[in-house]
Order: sequence, then structure tokens, then C-alpha cells
Amino acid sequence: TIYEDAKTGSKWIAQEIISLIKKRQQENKTVVLGLATGSSPLKVYEELIRAHKEDGLSFENVITFNLDEYYPMLPESVHSYVRFMKENLFDHIDIKEENTHLPDGTLSMEEVPEFCRNYELQIRQAGGIDIQLLGIGRTGHIGFNEPGSGIRSRTRMVTLDQLTRRDAAPSFGGINNVPRRAITMGVGSIMEARKILLMAWGNGKAPIIREAVEGPITESVPTTFLQEHPNVDVILDEAAAEKL
Ligand code: GLP
Repeated sequence: TIYEDAKTGSKWIAQEIISLIKKRQQENKTVVLGLATGSSPLKVYEELIRAHKEDGLSFENVITFNLDEYYPMLPESVHSYVRFMKENLFDHIDIKEENTHLPDGTLSMEEVPEFCRNYELQIRQAGGIDIQLLGIGRTGHIGFNEPGSGIRSRTRMVTLDQLTRRDAAPSFGGINNVPRRAITMGVGSIMEARKILLMAWGNGKAPIIREAVEGPITESVPTTFLQEHPNVDVILDEAAAEKL
């Protein structure tokens, strides 16, 4: 779906999430959201905060799992996704802290595999992801599933692509400060979500959106695997859709 701008598209996405939260509240059930970081979801989060503050929407029945985190990364670092999620969403709504989950960037290398297995288990125990929010990186990554990530890949440690590190360099004050690794949910983990909302704004994303939506399914553009998912919405502004 192509919206005239990111704000309108983000409002629609937020509305999808809000409707599900309300529906589940009436049924006395929880909602499991898969959340993303980066600039793309910011307006969606603003809208969710607005619904909490102005319309009294409660997030008490919401459980969240974030896609990824840099490795190594301290939670209090300005670059951590833990901090990003607190500043841009969690600190402004009434979600219970124990219901929010992110990959842990403070583990030792030896501890990572078990953490990753456990992360998947926690998602399953929560009932699986109802709605997975996704941005897209210019390499075609979802989460931090860089080119070469297989359709069955699970939560794991990955090496970041040079283009991804270059894109992150300005906010880290230079590419040498950007971590070389990250922990990410896998493509296979993402594919298990019941509904996926992929969003992209601005013409910088237009070439990769074209490949993702119209290109052949390939490991070199992991987003193309979403073409095989039965319930995906791609939400774009006109600039991101200009090459379709
Ligand atoms: C990072 C994140 C991705 C995100 C991508 C795009 O690599 N790990 O989840 O989709 O950036 O970022 P932005 O939304 O800022 O364009």
C-alpha cells in the first residue's frame, strides 16, 4: 500500500496494532508484538504513545520481542537498541518491563548460542508473534539478516555488512565505532509471525524495495523471502515506491 507520506502510512500501521490490542483486551488475552528499531518505526511509536496518552490505551496485555541488538553493546549506551526502545516507546507507555524482550549485547561469546535458543523458546511460550514490524536495510536485510542469511535461519550472532556499518557510521561518530557483529532473530523466526508489516520511507529505500517486492527470491536479498509469507503488508510512502 502506498501512502502519500510516512506519517499517514505510520498512522495506518499504528491503527492495525491498536485494533489488535483492543480486541485482545476484550477477550482478556495478550498480544505479542515483534518490534523493530531504526528511523522507520519512529512515527508508529509516536502514534502508539499518543493513543496511550490521549485515548487511554493500555499496553498491560502487550508482550514485545525486538528483532536485534548490536554485539557487544551495553544497555545504557546511547547506541543500544535497549535504550532506543525505552526512549522512543517503553518509557512513555504502561507496558510491564518484564514483558519487553531484546537480544542481550552484554553476553560472552560462549553464552550467546544458549541465549538465542532461549529467545526463540520465549517467543513460542508467549504464543508466537501476532504482528511483526519490519524496516528494511539498504542491503535488503530484515532485522540484521544480511545477504547470505537463509530462509530457515534462527536467532543467532551475525557479522554486519560493510554497507550496514557505513549507514550506521554517522550516529556512531565513524565506522570504526560501529560494532562488527549483532544478535538478530533469523529469517525463519520472522517468517513464523502471523502477520508482517514491512515499512519503508524515502527514495533512499526505493531501489531495495523494488528488489524486495519484484525481484526473484534469493538469499542475496533476504527481504525477498517475505514473498513466501502468507500475510505481509508492505507499507510505503510515494518516494519509497517510486521504482515499482
Ligand atoms: C538497522 C536495523 C534494521 C532496520 C534498518 C533500517 O539495520 N537493525 O532493523 O530495518 O536499520 O534502518 P532505518 O529504519 O533507520 O532506515
